[in-house]
Amino acid sequence: MEGFKIGRKGQFLESVKYITNDISLLSRGDGIEILTQSIEKERLFYVYPSENPNALEFYFILTGEVECELDESKVILGPQDYFSAKGIKDPVHFKTLSEVTLLWIITEPTFRYISNEITSLMDVVKQVEQKDRYTFNHSDRVANYAVKIAKKLRVNVEQLENLNVASYLHDIGKINVPEEILNKPGRLTDEEFDIIKKHPGDGAEMIKGTYYEEIYPIIEQHHERLNGTGYPNRLKGDEISLEARIIAVSDTFDAMTEDRAYRKAFDAQFALDELKKLSGTHYDPEVVRAFEEVLVEEGLVKNQESEQTG
Ligand SMILES: [Fe+2]
Ligand SMILES: [Fe+2]
Repeated sequence: MEGFKIGRKGQFLESVKYITNDISLLSRGDGIEILTQSIEKERLFYVYPSENPNALEFYFILTGEVECELDESKVILGPQDYFSAKGIKDPVHFKTLSEVTLLWIITEPTFRYISNEITSLMDVVKQVEQKDRYTFNHSDRVANYAVKIAKKLRVNVEQLENLNVASYLHDIGKINVPEEILNKPGRLTDEEFDIIKKHPGDGAEMIKGTYYEEIYPIIEQHHERLNGTGYPNRLKGDEISLEARIIAVSDTFDAMTEDRAYRKAFDAQFALDELKKLSGTHYDPEVVRAFEEVLVEEGLVKNQESEQTG
């Protein structure tokens, strides 16, 4: 029948996979969007104030439980509970206690905006990886190691989430670096290196004003080094966020263990030994220690302590 539509489980008009959640558009009409959102366990999410005070956001919990923080009290909501927001002044914070699926209805079109935003950021990352033929899937590997390190360091859920997104996007600013410089086999001239040094700041600028704005300092700081010899701002020690110190280690390791235009890949043990040599001057010793544990567990390097004692 014209105008009538049946949708079966798992069918949608369009879907966006974020790093920790999935948003699917089920239907839309007259400016209203009907979506489902699935969020992993122990993730934070927010309902933000809208620019339009009359916009309504309505959420109905289909499966799972969430904890809602309200004026210093916490409310637990489960299946068939619902909440809505209209004209709120501050963001409302939620935490998922299990994997959660929400039915989400918004009177202000939002999906296209988030859908385009994340898709276009990830497209730029893919373009960077194609330009620099030695960094294929670099951001996936950097994210994978970064999250494992962070879990060892018991960072909070919010930091873990930001770290994950920032790892994917950390080199996005390289889109402005000419291909000849990225793939140059020989030593870079000072001028060429100055161009490379712009990518953390350019990346940060690209994130500002998007849904992911709060992670821009991590991107800006991923080449800073503890003793102030990094770039672009020569930050030192605690001036560099923990998330950026973690990406510094996982990024350097990945760069060393992959082929580059000017050399072959080093093995994992060699790369780790290099990181350890620079631990305390360039890299955070706690982060390097946590990373060694990860590599030992994955069987990529030998456990040197047990070798000495056993
Ligand atoms: Fe970088
Ligand atoms: Fe990188």
